[in-house]
Amino acid sequence: MDKLDFNAEQYRRASGHQKEWGKEIIGQLPLSGYERIIDLGCGAGMLTAELAARVPAGFVLGIDSSDGMIEAAAKLASDNLSFSRMDINDMDFVEAFDVAFSNATLHWIKDHRRMLEAVMRSLRPCGWARFNFAAAGTGKPFDEAVGQVMKRPLFAAAFNDFQWPWYMPAGEEYDELVRSAGFREAKVWSENKDRWFDNSDVMIRWVDQPCLIPFLAVLPPADRQRFREEVVEEITRRTVGADGRCFVPFRRINLLARK
Ligand SMILES: C[S@@+](CC[C@H](N)C(=O)[O-])C[C@H]1O[C@@H](n2cnc3c(N)ncnc32)[C@H](O)[C@@H]1O
Repeated sequence: MDKLDFNAEQYRRASGHQKEWGKEIIGQLPLSGYERIIDLGCGAGMLTAELAARVPAGFVLGIDSSDGMIEAAAKLASDNLSFSRMDINDMDFVEAFDVAFSNATLHWIKDHRRMLEAVMRSLRPCGWARFNFAAAGTGKPFDEAVGQVMKRPLFAAAFNDFQWPWYMPAGEEYDELVRSAGFREAKVWSENKDRWFDNSDVMIRWVDQPCLIPFLAVLPPADRQRFREEVVEEITRRTVGADGRCFVPFRRINLLARK
């Protein structure tokens, strides 16, 4: 499979809402300024840099599997902020951090039991985790649009062995999973962050970065543009209102858990 990477600059323009939610969470973290923090799926590092500013006597490590994102993030590195290209599924730290933070990323991780166990190992005693990621129901019009186009004769064969790229649990399901991973205290709650995009051009930026990336990666390059156009047409039809704005449901899972 041809790996299509995230485009850090396009993602930056398409991710205003993720960033807003992440900033709000960072502002509420009970930090003393001495913590060692890992940011899982740090993207281009803007929120990671905000975390570093909150812990001047501590340290933040941002990890991300995308070359493009880590290349962009590296420009923000400083005395207490560094970045490493690493897959969250491969992380293998032992009692290295006081806080594991993640914003708008963990729906890309399919095996959360394994990930939660790795996070537990990475935390020092009494360390804690604060995650925010997509919950069940997020982007339903995209799922329907792409699901329909994938079945069309030109594209169907390419998707024979396709694995759906995201895990988006409901709150109750995730609550059970976190408790069984052995955290001492855990609070899981869902949030409704449904969103009106100003027009279809703005909505389509979110379709391009990141939603379509795993789907385009399995198609021959010659078919990608047509696939994108057909998905864009389907999702626009499903989301656009009489005033030209586009409605997309976004639901979030929040986790605050202590080792
Ligand atoms: C929507 S972006 C969020 C970036 C940043 N946390 C923010 O809130 O702006 C999701 C990020 O997760 C990264 N990602 C996806 N799967 C990953 C994995 N298995 N390991 C590490 N990073 C991953 C992507 O490369 C991307 O940068």
